[in-house]
Amino acid sequence: MKPVGTAMPGNERLTDDLAAHFDFDRGLATVRRFPDGESHVRAETSVEGRHVFIVCTLDRPDDKLVPLLLLACAIREAGAVSVGLVAPYLAYMRQDRQFHAGETISAQHVAAWISRHVDWLVTVDPHLHRIADLSQVYSIPSRVAHAADGVASWVRLNVSQPLLIGPDEESAQWVRDVAQRAEVPFIILAKTRRGDRDVEVSVPEVDRWRSHTPVLVDDIVSTARTMIETVGHLRRIGLAAPVCVAVHAVFAQTAFEDLHAAGAADIVSCDTISHPSNRIALASAIAASVREFLP
Ligand code: R5P
Repeated sequence: MKPVGTAMPGNERLTDDLAAHFDFDRGLATVRRFPDGESHVRAETSVEGRHVFIVCTLDRPDDKLVPLLLLACAIREAGAVSVGLVAPYLAYMRQDRQFHAGETISAQHVAAWISRHVDWLVTVDPHLHRIADLSQVYSIPSRVAHAADGVASWVRLNVSQPLLIGPDEESAQWVRDVAQRAEVPFIILAKTRRGDRDVEVSVPEVDRWRSHTPVLVDDIVSTARTMIETVGHLRRIGLAAPVCVAVHAVFAQTAFEDLHAAGAADIVSCDTISHPSNRIALASAIAASVREFLP
């Protein structure tokens, strides 16, 4: 029997894209809210004896986690042999430390909740910083699909004489990888974050790269303050308007408009979160990881 892939609301396009890469039956589920705001889920497709995966990217996660975990329970109780989760964007990975007294390490708790309800996890470039590997917080097996190849191809095809710029040390892992694949130069800046929207990024030394097109690359763009600060530096020192590339287009509130207004020449993202900036498709890489968990 073929596996069953069920899209949580909003994840239908990615699930369709995965279906172009391997064979599975589409599972149907009702996911809705009762009038009191509680979630009501129901697995509509027969899953007895089947391997099932749920596709649910986890930006704006607080509204998504309860119905997702309830649906995983419903599918298991309906007799599925296994229940996997395909979450191209994995939430809560940035809360990986107790930054202030009285806080908790949210990454550990959210990972424990998810690990309790699903058998495996596939995601794309999770924010691994102080947590070096997903296995440190997830007790289930996981696979990470990478965006570097897709980003490198996009840069090679669309930007003339690119100079990749990582806005902070954490971005070095992705930027170096993309630069090597695209065979283009890169620099990494230093960032100090003082608050949600208060970041300072070092001024790049770019004299030898003046003829290049700056391409900022980061894993997550949320408030866009990191990119906006960097775009400001580049414009002030007279470089061409930069292209901004995000793996995960979180774009909180007006962040996308703010980044445009700050002087970005173009804003491009991978399709791990559905957004008008999506131009780099990762279904093929995600599908390859998902297949590793299916018979
Ligand atoms: C941080 O550690 C990440 O790699 C990104 O640099 C960060 O998430 C960007 O956040 P924002 O868009 O809010 O500046």
